[in-house]
Amino acid sequence: MSATNRNGLERHEHDFYETPTWAIDAVLDVLGIGPEWDGYAIDPGAGTGAIAARIAERAPKADVRGIEIVPELLEQAKATRAASIAWELADWLTWEPDGTPDLVIANPPYGPVTDRGLAERFIRKALTVAGKKGTVVMLLRLNYLVPKVRRALRAEFGKPDMHTLEKRPSFNGSGTDATDYAWFIWGPKRGGKWSVIEQRGPQSAKPPSVPVPSTPETPTTIEPPTGT
Ligand SMILES: C[S@@+](CC[C@H](N)C(=O)[O-])C[C@H]1O[C@@H](n2cnc3c(N)ncnc32)[C@H](O)[C@@H]1O
Repeated sequence: MSATNRNGLERHEHDFYETPTWAIDAVLDVLGIGPEWDGYAIDPGAGTGAIAARIAERAPKADVRGIEIVPELLEQAKATRAASIAWELADWLTWEPDGTPDLVIANPPYGPVTDRGLAERFIRKALTVAGKKGTVVMLLRLNYLVPKVRRALRAEFGKPDMHTLEKRPSFNGSGTDATDYAWFIWGPKRGGKWSVIEQRGPQSAKPPSVPVPSTPETPTTIEPPTGT
């Protein structure tokens, strides 16, 4: 998703905004996804495949699947991304899982103003598909979903870790977004860890030239005050 038209961008009907590579790499570093990772990863709302592609590039042994509802975006993903990625034209909200993924990772759509519950439904579906053993990673606006994450989702699915992006991402390559973002991570041994992720690499879709670490960072653990 992206916040409202700060840069004069037309809002895409299905909320297509491409996540910059530096922001994807930042969370894949946290997750320790590198050459040895051979899990099953799903990128729901894959768009042109930026997230799925970066996983496939960093972890060639991984089983990666991208699910997208807009045929034109999926065609572009198929034409330009690694041949090893499986693509499916489907609505994530009604998609039937065919196994339990190790990782579900997305930059979810927020939907039209008339349906602001879309992002939450997207996240709930991911948490349900991943079950207790899988990890769910979502790029979320701090000012929009944090209260929901704290209350409803947290009560049902537990506390996520939160890795805030120090720089606002650019979803169109020119100018940064109007709001701040964080990667939220739910999963085994997750909950309450917090870090600030620095921008390493350009605000564009091109992969940065920094080497890809294969070991996870150790984030700070901060317990939120009682009552949050
Ligand atoms: C914010 S974009 C993210 C695109 C891509 N994952 C990335 O990070 O560059 C959200 C994507 O979700 C897709 N989408 C919206 N509703 C969907 C649904 N119900 N099922 C599957 N994809 C959906 C949109 O078409 C759009 O490509």
